[in-house]
Amino acid sequence: MPRWATTYYRKPLHPEHAAGRSITDEQGHRYPDFFAGILTNSLGHGLKEFRRALDRRLDTGISHTSTLYLINAQVRLAEHLAAQSGIDDAAVFFVSSGTEANDTALLTATCHTNSNHVVALTDSYHGRSLATTSISPFGGNPLSCTAAPTALDHIREHDLQHSAQTMGKRLLSCLRDLCGEHPHLSAPRGHGLMLAMDLVDPRTGEPDPRAADAYAEASRTQGLLIGLGGRHSNALRIAPPMTVTEAEVDAAAHVLTTVAQQLRPAPAAT
Ligand SMILES: Cc1ncc(COP(=O)(O)O)c(C=O)c1O
Repeated sequence: MPRWATTYYRKPLHPEHAAGRSITDEQGHRYPDFFAGILTNSLGHGLKEFRRALDRRLDTGISHTSTLYLINAQVRLAEHLAAQSGIDDAAVFFVSSGTEANDTALLTATCHTNSNHVVALTDSYHGRSLATTSISPFGGNPLSCTAAPTALDHIREHDLQHSAQTMGKRLLSCLRDLCGEHPHLSAPRGHGLMLAMDLVDPRTGEPDPRAADAYAEASRTQGLLIGLGGRHSNALRIAPPMTVTEAEVDAAAHVLTTVAQQLRPAPAAT
């Protein structure tokens, strides 16, 4: 493994089991997962509908055949996405990663504008490769195309976008209160359930990445998993799955509050 492929925490966490919004490690400790696969796991873990849909697909024995043959699940998913996009005459192109999706978008945009100039923001992250422009044969395989509509249906049927907005506001208001009370916490921000706040030196306001590490470590000890990031590595990233409940949000807010108090820096000597 390359040296830069690091894990979170001084003692890495090894998830062995997960259900709903909780992850259980090999020692049997159970943690609410408020980072959700770096915001990619919208529905939480072990959703029964998801499992049943995948089981049905696996029972056919077909998980990959290549796009040389018709994949009905792919066509249905494309129609589903096109209908939900609200775009007239939408076209859908499947790839297998965010990196490929962004590369394809860049390629399409530069071809369309006949220019090789793009505008990018400093320190933003879009994936690992700009050079990969080949079409992946695995994007849109029968297994992923069976799973995706199940997730989309679940989001719509349970009105999870609305719920994410309500729960996000509740959690953001906790972050705002914390930043108001603690000078080492600042810049509470976010959309829906994608939230963050920064750890700073209370005297200078400078980013404090070590304090952010300590905060994530202490949250884990208190039983809550959150993420780290930001331009100066001093941001806490808090993003539970869209299925998160009010009780779970309040329990997480309680841990975040306890840790903020616990790690409050001592006032400077006068
Ligand atoms: C904003 C953003 N864009 C692109 C990517 C790349 O996605 P992938 O790892 O699936 O290639 C990521 C991955 O974390 C991301 O966070």
